[in-house]
Amino acid sequence: MCGIFAYFNYLVERDRRFILDTLLVGLSRLEYRGYDSAGLVVDGDKDDESLIFRQVGKVAALREKIAQEKNLDTERTFVSHCGMAHTRWATHGVPSVRNCHPHRSDVKNEFTVVHNGIITNYKELRTILEKFGFVFESDTDTEAAAKLCKYIYDTQKTTMGSTMTFTSLVKAVCKELDGAFALIFKSVHFPGEMVAARRGSPLLIGVKTAKKLKVDFVDVDVEVPVEDDNSLMLPDRPKIRRTQSRSFFGEEGVPMPVEYILASDASAIIEHTKKVLYLEDDDIAHISDGDLHIHRLRRDDRMSSVRPIQTLEQELAQIQKGAFSHFMLKEIHEQSESVVNTMRGRINFDDRRVVLGGLRSQLANIRRSRRLIFIACGTSYHSCVATRALFAELTELPVSVELASTFLDEQMPVFRDDCCLYVSQSGETKDTLLALQYCKERGALCLGVTNTVGSTISRETHCGVHINAGPEISVASTKAYTSQFIALTMIALQLSDDNYAKLPRRNEVIDGLFNLSNDIKKTLALEPQLKALSKSEFGTDKSQNLILIGRGFQTATVLEGALKIKEVSYIHAEGINAGELKHGPLALIDEKMPIILVMPKDRHYSDSENALKQVTARYGNPVVVCNEDDDTALFSNLKTIRVPRTVDALQAIINVVPLQILSYYMAIDRGFDPDSPRNLAKSVTTA
Ligand code: F6R
Repeated sequence: MCGIFAYFNYLVERDRRFILDTLLVGLSRLEYRGYDSAGLVVDGDKDDESLIFRQVGKVAALREKIAQEKNLDTERTFVSHCGMAHTRWATHGVPSVRNCHPHRSDVKNEFTVVHNGIITNYKELRTILEKFGFVFESDTDTEAAAKLCKYIYDTQKTTMGSTMTFTSLVKAVCKELDGAFALIFKSVHFPGEMVAARRGSPLLIGVKTAKKLKVDFVDVDVEVPVEDDNSLMLPDRPKIRRTQSRSFFGEEGVPMPVEYILASDASAIIEHTKKVLYLEDDDIAHISDGDLHIHRLRRDDRMSSVRPIQTLEQELAQIQKGAFSHFMLKEIHEQSESVVNTMRGRINFDDRRVVLGGLRSQLANIRRSRRLIFIACGTSYHSCVATRALFAELTELPVSVELASTFLDEQMPVFRDDCCLYVSQSGETKDTLLALQYCKERGALCLGVTNTVGSTISRETHCGVHINAGPEISVASTKAYTSQFIALTMIALQLSDDNYAKLPRRNEVIDGLFNLSNDIKKTLALEPQLKALSKSEFGTDKSQNLILIGRGFQTATVLEGALKIKEVSYIHAEGINAGELKHGPLALIDEKMPIILVMPKDRHYSDSENALKQVTARYGNPVVVCNEDDDTALFSNLKTIRVPRTVDALQAIINVVPLQILSYYMAIDRGFDPDSPRNLAKSVTTA
């Protein structure tokens, strides 16, 4: 949902070619967040000049456009330079050059801005600014922030005869903005400076310096408005009382060569440095003369005044495709490894013990809860559906699974003795965050299950579990799903480890987890068969509809399989619970309807047999996902996908893998790029 990236060098000589390339590579790392257009801004040849380049399409199209720019001196070197870039997933205004970021204050590019999030009061701001003579060039919400910068800057100058600092200016702007944002500003009035602000959208800063960083924290420097006036009635804006400000990078008075890399997520930073700090909501970061200062937009005593420098654990290779043609296929194949990483250090298979450090402080409280509420969207929601039955069985607590996107609509009663689990790969999904806020306000205990260290959900919840699946770049989620499934299973196992009666079941599940990686490897080996099936059974000559049928533990499998197929191959696919067939969907079945039936050998097998008979009696010809040891004569005339057999509660992890591979090849057969499905973005940071 838009990616922003900025690169800043100080006392490090860089030519423009390097800077442009750094920005473009940074953008390409973030491209999965949005890819309908891209743009960047760099310093011009004169001090008061910023050059903006924007293009519809992917980052490659922007690179191409810049390469064709005849008058650009790419050899020119800069010892200090600030450039910023943006890759867009359209929310306000269609994908077009005029709606591309960076947006600007005026035709001279005095202030430029890149933005991730949504400014909800942009219409009001626009109306006011238009009255002051500003001419808007785009349909976006972001442009209002750029124009507001100029308005406040100019007004201060004419009425007070002095200019504001860049930080004060951005603070004044941010105070007028409602909604969610990560913003980075650049200005010809403040060469060699950059200001970034965060509220509701993620933003982190990588720090690269040859010197060892002397400190591993940044004190927050609070500036407090004397009065809280939110109007645009300059010059009556509140005066800012400045508190002491200190530089934390470089010894006082000794300039230090340094590069800063700002990005929406770590994948764009990792190739420059592993040292990062995460901005909190209402932080304003100011970089000037190579120093970084973090200020607060408003005082909040609950907020820590320390921003530790953290070391990223991911490696560059993890965010590159390697030998695979697409991230989606790479991530599907990574699952035999990623499931192990999710369990590593948490399950001792010798004594069958599960210890999740992230839950330790709240374990007793979770066990005391009156009910468990799982809240998530999309694929993450399906991981909750997939594990609900085992959770209820092991914990003996009522478990409800809720879609975060509709949670607030229903205003569900939530109480202090509820425990709410938020499952989110990105940890930044707006709908899930809104549900989290709602439940926190009602005093519920909140637990996060995310794949992104430092994400908002992992910070805002009381405790949690990282799924450790490694960066997931493909928009269609695959390895995060299986790791979420395992993380939730491990939570259920840990919560029930004080219940002796559950011991045999717990042991059975833990043994199943032990063999999981091998079972996934065997399933991945079916790829050639699945590639062929995708053409023969679900090819372009077949119906544009597909029905997936499953039951019990496999209900989630067919929902998730259908979502994958929809997302990347644009076929209308529907996951149906086998028990529901006769209540309506059976009417869709005929010899032309492509069908996948998932029926492992578990306690629902005979019900699935009934479903199979109901379908074949209507001339349906399903492809059956079954266990490799299933020798029933029922399948003799049908195509089968035979997968290893595991414990019933884990079988859905195995069964989803062939559906992921099928969806990938169905997209490839149709000429679509599975890594960049149309209209979608990886991290949905708008509600
Ligand atoms: C589908 C997919 C989405 C996400 C959903 C929630 O492949 O990736 O359905 O699962 O947008 O995202 P997270 O898990 O980041 O909260």
